[in-house]
Amino acid sequence: MVHRDPPRKGGERFGRYDILLELGRGGMAELYLGRRSGVGGFEKLVAIKRILPHLAEDPQFRELFLNEARIAAQLSHPNVCQVHELDEADGELFLAMEYLEGVSWDALIAAAPRGEIAMRLAAAVIAQTSEGLHYAHTLHDATGHPTPIVHRDVSPSNLFITIDGVCKVLDFGIAKMATGGRAGPKTRTGVLKGKLPYMAPEQIKGEAVDGRTDLFALGVCLWEALTGERLYDRDTDFLIWKAITEDPVPSVNARVQRYPAAIDAVIARALAKDPAQRYATVREFAAELTRIVYPMSDAEVAGLVRSLCADRLARRQREVATVVSESRAASLELRAMTGADVDRDVDRDAGATTNLRGGAERESSAASTIGAARRACPRRSRPRARGPRPRRPR
Ligand SMILES: Nc1ncnc2c1ncn2[C@@H]1O[C@H](COP(=O)(O)OP(=O)(O)OP(=O)(O)O)[C@@H](O)[C@H]1O
Ligand SMILES: [Mg+2]
Repeated sequence: MVHRDPPRKGGERFGRYDILLELGRGGMAELYLGRRSGVGGFEKLVAIKRILPHLAEDPQFRELFLNEARIAAQLSHPNVCQVHELDEADGELFLAMEYLEGVSWDALIAAAPRGEIAMRLAAAVIAQTSEGLHYAHTLHDATGHPTPIVHRDVSPSNLFITIDGVCKVLDFGIAKMATGGRAGPKTRTGVLKGKLPYMAPEQIKGEAVDGRTDLFALGVCLWEALTGERLYDRDTDFLIWKAITEDPVPSVNARVQRYPAAIDAVIARALAKDPAQRYATVREFAAELTRIVYPMSDAEVAGLVRSLCADRLARRQREVATVVSESRAASLELRAMTGADVDRDVDRDAGATTNLRGGAERESSAASTIGAARRACPRRSRPRARGPRPRRPR
């Protein structure tokens, strides 16, 4: 039987982070809002992605995850969610990445009216995310050696739009091991259920993938954003597989004529079954789309996110504000009780850890002081441990 650890609670420590709030969960991981503190009141909020234990325990998955995440941590682009580090705490793998305020594209698609607004919004999202994807597809290492990364899991839930109207690609580096590098076997485990409808034919057949595989997925996202429907919504994985590999792509104007006819040709080329028939790059695809559709500016996208998703954003803002101020108050209380600078940026509880960015970190004398202070103030009586339980996103 698969062992599953209970979800983390607000107020718990995880590696060098304080867990403040559960943000959500997907097929492979749980996401938390975390806080890292440092000297002089330094504080950084991060999103912590904890890989589900039953996956992290699979040695093949682990190895692929570590390899890919090592590369993903090197990615640095305004349209890619920044991974700060990959680490292990309490025997669990996790990623710490930038915390984003905003909504995923699927939430925005659901809220936006179809027609002109959906079209100009989609053009903006495609243009921005294509830049992030193109950067990864054409990545080089420090010696100039090409190290292209294919995302492999582009979908509306992995494209995020911030309240400033900036689009970010999420979950780079997680996708590869999700498909085991070869899409076939792992898709049948159910890990990827729900993502099959965005996979290009070569990916579901387990053939070689490249940037054009992500382009196909982006084409599906565009079709869905314009129609508000699922393109490859079928009852079984087999029927999805068959539709992706055999069925022609229906016109986005099939139900109601709302879009320029030229959009169908752009989508059809992005969704060509043979990668050689697609655009050569995601950037080329975006350029062609934005020749036909005038994309929204960042400010327009920001305005739309803030107005269409006002309730959801306000709720999240309130939750975050509450847990952050409670956690600050708890830190101050603890500092007053122990007289120690408990928020020094050192690994206090776990001792030395190894991470992919910084390598081994030794416990400093300051850490020992804090460790001693913490030992003098046992976990149960620590104010920090009284932090709020994570609230599930509604
Ligand atoms: N860095 C981040 N900052 C803020 N919210 C995020 C961040 N990364 C992901 N999220 C949100 O957290 C939730 C869970 O994300 P997660 O990637 O685990 O699941 P998913 O994308 O819904 O499914 P999956 O990736 O397994 O297909 C989603 O609503 C996502 O938009
Ligand atoms: Mg995701």
